[in-house]
Parts: sequence; structure tokens; C-alpha cells
Amino acid sequence: MKTTISVIKADTGSVGGHNRPSEAMVEKARERVRKGISDGLLLDGRVTFTGDDIALLMTHTKGTDSPDIHKFAWDTFVETTAIAKSEGLYGAGQDLLKNAFSGNVRGMGPGSAEIAFEERTAEPFIVFAGDKCGPGVFNYPLFEGFANPYHNAGLLLAPDMKAGFTFHIMDVNYTEADRVIMLKAPADYYDICTLLRDPNHYVIESVVENATGLTAAVASTARLHNIAGKYVGKDDPVAIVRSQKQFPSTGEILSPWALAHYTLGDNRGSHHVAVMPVKQNSIISFFDGPTIISAAGYCVHEGKLTDAVDLFDQPFWDTIRTKASEKTLDIRAQGFYGPAMAGMDELEYTGVVENLKRLDEKFTLREKK
Ligand code: F6R
Ligand code: MG
Ligand code: MG
Repeated sequence: MKTTISVIKADTGSVGGHNRPSEAMVEKARERVRKGISDGLLLDGRVTFTGDDIALLMTHTKGTDSPDIHKFAWDTFVETTAIAKSEGLYGAGQDLLKNAFSGNVRGMGPGSAEIAFEERTAEPFIVFAGDKCGPGVFNYPLFEGFANPYHNAGLLLAPDMKAGFTFHIMDVNYTEADRVIMLKAPADYYDICTLLRDPNHYVIESVVENATGLTAAVASTARLHNIAGKYVGKDDPVAIVRSQKQFPSTGEILSPWALAHYTLGDNRGSHHVAVMPVKQNSIISFFDGPTIISAAGYCVHEGKLTDAVDLFDQPFWDTIRTKASEKTLDIRAQGFYGPAMAGMDELEYTGVVENLKRLDEKFTLREKK
């Protein structure tokens, strides 16, 4: 029996701005998941929030892209939207970009990451959930966590991993179809770097182990502004990473997050800030940010989930949170100049473009002497 893990998340409205969903919304999602389990659709499930996004973690046997599972998630978000509307919350239904469900949440607003596998004897995995960032936020930590022995010491110490990993990378600016490339580390190392250096354009979709052919990680790739044609909120991606044994250890996967790397997101989706690893169910605050990522560790056995271990809820990460705050304050001190604010092609609001158009007409050419 193959177990499928689906993580589907959406912003369907929040309290106090774009900060967090209400208790009633989260409880509605939990009630739906309990019902999904008792109806036999789901084997198990959990509901968490990261900033203003609710994430549904679901286990089942229906495989990836199951219309039943996607409809269940969509309908759940329709119900949390109804609560958000009834409570007068901000941005109710923000990520539900289409009116009618059409088989799969991909291309409709919610983010999704799914993986199906034969369970190992013990099957540990991590669910990452981000707020106020794009899917490229995973480029640095996934590539480093799998392909760089600075973080994945297993590449040197564990014979299974020596053959490296294949990275499936998506061109997220191409909207006609899924445009993907598969590159192997270590052989294609520099080609992978060439793509991943631009995390707003090229995004890791999955990571497959070369020696075993097993999929180790999957990440959501949705870019909401490409679906909606305008800014409707940042993409706020999710990822599932299997760990241990033939894969990097949980700690190796977490290791790159200690950099608190700079990413594009934060306020109005248009600022570079340092990613802060946060505890489960953390809120958004300073400057509509900072960009946050939560990490929950589980084991799954015959589709049943263990309790979660809140992987960033440990004193080590307090130091990283301080570092992330300091890095963010450093770049925030630069306001809108240069790399502090997004480049022209990634500005999520139209104000600058409109101002430039107006100012452009006022430019004059000085007569040559
Ligand atoms: C970023 C985000 C917020 C909003 C900002 C303005 O993803 O959600 O920073 O962009 O609060 O929001 P509106 O335009 O809804 O007033
Ligand atoms: Mg939002
Ligand atoms: Mg969000």
C-alpha cells in the first residue's frame, strides 16, 4: 500500500491585517479533517497555521493529484472563508482565485505539495510552511541540505547518499504548462547553481535520490501573481521532506535554515528580508513580516501520523531568530533603495510603475552644446 502525504494551504482571511486566521477558522478546518478521517477519505490529518495561512496535512491512499483530496481541501477553504466573512476578517477568501473547483487546486490559488511512497519501516518527514515569501525560498535550504556536505554530512559519511540527488526545477514564469528541467548533483552542480541563483524564476519542485530513485522532497511551486495576473498576496509555499536512513538526517535538512537567508517577500511581497525559522502557529508582525518558516517533524505509520515535533521550537533557533531580526533590520534600514526593495519585474504593487510612467513624460532631452 502506498501512503500519500498531501499538504495543501491557503490564506482565506485573517485577523488584524494579514497576520493570522481566527480560532474559529482553524477549528472549522480541524472539524473538517476529523470528518474526513471518520468518513474514510483520510487516514489521518493535522491543521496548523503559519502567519495568515492555514495548512492541511492529510494522509491517504489516493495518490497525488487526487480530485477527491483536492476537492476536500478546496471545500474546507470555502468553509473557512465563510467564517472569515461572517467575522468580518481581512482578505476573506484571498487565495481562492477561481469561483468553481475544477479537479485540482493547482492553478486555483492554494499551494500544494504531495508525495506518495511505500512506507519505510520508520518514515520520518518534515513539513515546512512559509508565509510572506515565494516558493523560491526553498531553493537555498533544499539544495544545500541535500547537495552540500557542509550541511549534509551524509554525502561524505553515509555510502547510500554518495551518488547524490536529482533536482527537478520548474520555470515558474512559464504559465502555459509545467516547464521543468532535471539536473543531477554532483554532475550538474554548477548548472543547478546557475538556475537556483534566481529563486523568483527557477524553483525546486522535487528532489530524487540518485541511488534509490526515491523522491525525498517535494515543494509547492504556485506563483499567485501568475495565476491572478496581479498581486493578490504572496505565494507562501509548503514543502515535504523525508529524512533519515538513505536520506539526509532531520538535522541536516534543518542546518541551512541557520543562515536566515535573504528572500523576497515580506511587506507587500516586495521586500528582501531574512527568513525567520519560527514555532508552529506563529503570527506575522513587523513590517508585515518578517518572512517566516515553520517546520513540523512527524513519523507516519500505515498512514497514521505521530504527534508533531516543533522543530524550530528549541533554544538553538532563538539565536537564529535574533540573527534573522538583525539581518532584516539591517536591510530594512535601507528602506526602498537598491536591493532592499524588489527589482522592477518582481514589484508586486503597481504604484512605482505608474509613477515612473507619469514621470517619464516629464523628462526632457538637454540640447547638445
Ligand atoms: C504580503 C501581504 C501584506 C499586504 C499589505 C497590504 O504578502 O499580504 O504585506 O501586501 O498588508 O495589503 P492590502 O493591499 O490588502 O491592504
Ligand atoms: Mg495574506
Ligand atoms: Mg500568507
